[in-house]
Amino acid sequence: MAKLFVRADRKLSVINKNIYGHFAEHLGRGIYDGIFVGKDSPIPNIRGIRTDVLQALKHIAVPVIRWPGGCFAEYYYWKDGIGEHRKKMINSSWGGVIENNSFGTHEYFDLCELLECSSYIAANIGSGTPREVSEWVEYITFDGESEMTELRRKNGREKPWTLDFIGIGNENWGCGGQMRPEYYSDLYRQFESFIRHYGKRIQRVACGPDGDDQNWTETVMQLAGNRMDGLSLHYYTMPGYYKTDKYKWESKASATAFDESNYYRTLDRAYFMDELITRHKHIMDQYDPDKKVALIVDEWGTWHLAEEGTNPAFLYQQNTMRDAIVAALTLNIFNLHSDRVTMANLAQMINVLQSVILTEGDKMVLTPTYHVFDLYKGHQNATLVESYIQADDLHINDAQLPHLHVSASEREDHRMHLTIVNLSANADVALHSYLEGRSFTKAHIRYVTGAITDHNTFEHPDQIAIQTAESMDIHNNELQLTIRCCSVYEIVLE
Ligand code: AHR
Repeated sequence: MAKLFVRADRKLSVINKNIYGHFAEHLGRGIYDGIFVGKDSPIPNIRGIRTDVLQALKHIAVPVIRWPGGCFAEYYYWKDGIGEHRKKMINSSWGGVIENNSFGTHEYFDLCELLECSSYIAANIGSGTPREVSEWVEYITFDGESEMTELRRKNGREKPWTLDFIGIGNENWGCGGQMRPEYYSDLYRQFESFIRHYGKRIQRVACGPDGDDQNWTETVMQLAGNRMDGLSLHYYTMPGYYKTDKYKWESKASATAFDESNYYRTLDRAYFMDELITRHKHIMDQYDPDKKVALIVDEWGTWHLAEEGTNPAFLYQQNTMRDAIVAALTLNIFNLHSDRVTMANLAQMINVLQSVILTEGDKMVLTPTYHVFDLYKGHQNATLVESYIQADDLHINDAQLPHLHVSASEREDHRMHLTIVNLSANADVALHSYLEGRSFTKAHIRYVTGAITDHNTFEHPDQIAIQTAESMDIHNNELQLTIRCCSVYEIVLE
């Protein structure tokens, strides 16, 4: 038996809806096929953007999409992706395939407007110039008379778009230029000073650390922290990436054929996100005690081996209940750190790494991770409240993991939104909940559950789907229910 305590009267930080954000790079079939099929495609679309995908993304209330990369961003010349005649280029980051640039600035902002979500572009500072970045911002956001706005109008867009976030580079410690943090900080200051805020103020995001690189965080905060709104963090869950070790790419394993020990190892790596955020937060607190600079986890998710028979450079992987548990645990962690973490972007939205959607021709399948985003969408912009679980931890091999993990928030309509993950592969838990600080009368419950390797395919798209339990009456502010093994629950209290 486990106990859950929710203190409805202890309100903490607001959970920024952008924690539920996504990342879409020009990589494999993430953009082309996944989002954009072109307006002449037989696949139903709006100005080239797949209608089925749009509908599915709207349903989970996608709040922000980061684009165009990733490593690709540092090769990207935005002027190649506008106008009638688009330049072809080699996508040297991802398989050396030819990128025809048919999805560019106009198509990206069209997508954001169709989804009513915020925009987040990554600027090329590795091989680009401050002038290019400055002109891109002008092209997107300026409303007056200038060469860039004339060009935009000539290309069919009269009014500027809203640019919410700009990333100044991507992984500049790696594929974005192999820089040292001192050099990057100076480069950041240079590029940042040529970004003008013509319309709404644009939030500037600096390239942050690779996983646990605390020296990067410290140096960049010290040298440029006063000129940024956010610092990014990238961390991928892969069985070979153990805590402070460097990536061990060769130990990546199958997305669908794995045993329990690999399952728990993966969860252990995912759970490290909590420690990682805590460490970087401590450093940031030294330089920014007022929390003006957000920690933005703009690449996270599982990284498995690509599916057999697919181009390994396209990073196309299946998605099981294990991925759902990783997503649920990670999103709970972000909620609990929402005093500093205000945006996160799952890598990557469609057909790449831990996607929420997979497509094949005109077919589309929703992954278990998609359903987690559906169960969690009630947290968007809600206020985190204190909650904790009393239960024995799981001890498996060298890993110690919580059996259950929770986060709770109060929404504007005063409903309480709880999300609970049962990490155990095979042990259900009887959970006794004590709700304090306010009275509740009803609980509405939805969940996903399955065996650790269960997943959805184009032939069987509903193996993992959201199930709805019968609503329960709450007596004396206490609630008892069984949380099934390998599951994610959403409990809405009213
Ligand atoms: O998401 C795939 C790649 O992972 C991104 O391009 C890069 O930023 C990271 O290393």
